[in-house]
Amino acid sequence: MKIAVLISGRGTNLQALIDACAAKDFPAEIALVISNKSSAYGLERAKAADIPTQVVDHTAYSDRPAFEAALNSVLEAARVELVCLAGFMRLLNPDFVNRWKDRLINIHPSLLPSYKGLHTHERALEDGVRFTGCTVHFVRAEMDQGPIIAQSVVSILPGDTPDTLADRVLEEENRLYPKVVRLIAEKRLRISGGRVQIDRDPAPNSCVSSL
Ligand code: GRF
Repeated sequence: MKIAVLISGRGTNLQALIDACAAKDFPAEIALVISNKSSAYGLERAKAADIPTQVVDHTAYSDRPAFEAALNSVLEAARVELVCLAGFMRLLNPDFVNRWKDRLINIHPSLLPSYKGLHTHERALEDGVRFTGCTVHFVRAEMDQGPIIAQSVVSILPGDTPDTLADRVLEEENRLYPKVVRLIAEKRLRISGGRVQIDRDPAPNSCVSSL
């Protein structure tokens, strides 16, 4: 399956996908990495792996629909079948989201539907919750919403700061995202009634990670 990864920054999730795709038996390949920022470090990671990159700079377009039309043409030209948002810091309009419905996924650093948006770790620490984690989900028009594919739980430890917590959650993100891409490429996901079912679910009863 040909995938595109959309980034805005350092790209550790992109790196996890690059590493996974390097394995012979991995059923997906990264056809293209797109960044809305030319300074994103993730672009270097892609270049180091000989993956084509493209910068689609949102500031060069008059409005969001124009930016998204450009994104869309680049994705279509590359014949991409799945779009993976990985730290892509632009909101996407319903038009774009609907065009890529069920072919557009995102990774978010919380156990959705808790802590949508930014500063997830700060807010979790402030609330004193004992567990947080990360979620991979299909994208819908509302921010950080859409059928949940997989989640991974991270314990909050005494003395955690937003940074220490972010590091541990990121490790789980990097582990989880390639697993989800594999499931999609193997066509093992079905969405029904807004919920995702996994054929031959690898971890149906796990309380730490759903994959
Ligand atoms: C990750 O925490 C991801 O969940 C969020 O943005 C961050 C991107 O990190 N959407 P990276 O660029 O993949 O290292």
